Amino acid sequence: MESATPKYHLYDVREELKPQNLLEISSEQIDDHWNLYKGYVKQVNTLNEELLKLREAGEVSSLAYADRRRRYGFEYNGMVLHEYYFGNLKNNQNELESGDLLKAMAQSFGCYNTWKKDFEAAAKSRAIGWAILYADATTGALTNHFIAEHGNGNVAGFIPVLVLDVWEHAYMVDHLASGRGDYIAAFMKNINWDKAQERYDDVLRGKLTPRF
Ligand SMILES: [Fe+2]
Repeated sequence: MESATPKYHLYDVREELKPQNLLEISSEQIDDHWNLYKGYVKQVNTLNEELLKLREAGEVSSLAYADRRRRYGFEYNGMVLHEYYFGNLKNNQNELESGDLLKAMAQSFGCYNTWKKDFEAAAKSRAIGWAILYADATTGALTNHFIAEHGNGNVAGFIPVLVLDVWEHAYMVDHLASGRGDYIAAFMKNINWDKAQERYDDVLRGKLTPRF
């Protein structure tokens, strides 16, 4: 059966997620990083377009199709994780003082400070990638994960509550390569805890918070 326009979803750069006036993370750093994020959005759209063309040409068994398929997860995760990351950055100088997220940190780690040390340790893993506070959507339990590059380490069905980019591009406008620790300390001062709390509250309600 012929369908009218199956096509694919065309993603947009989500300008509303771009952080402003962060503490100890310069706007030049964010601008440079934002340009990389735009590249991921473009690549996702390009990949979908090329895969569609190859399908329409009956070339799903071709090397070109397999090659583009192989890039799929890298580009999608690159786009999506940046949207979570920028979405949980804000100069609001909030502390996490109460609520279900804090309670869950105590249940899963003992206390907030133990969670924080573990999250920072994940972020200092000697590789490029991401530190992610994940919630198991089934149990509500929290765990800190290191994701190598964009894809290796994500857990299917777990919900990202707090996402920290630790690729060197995330801090090399402001710091040298050895400055990851300073960047992580700056990140911790700019967490949008309201957003993280909202993501976790939605987990408890069986709902996924939209990225934008
Ligand atoms: Fe990044």
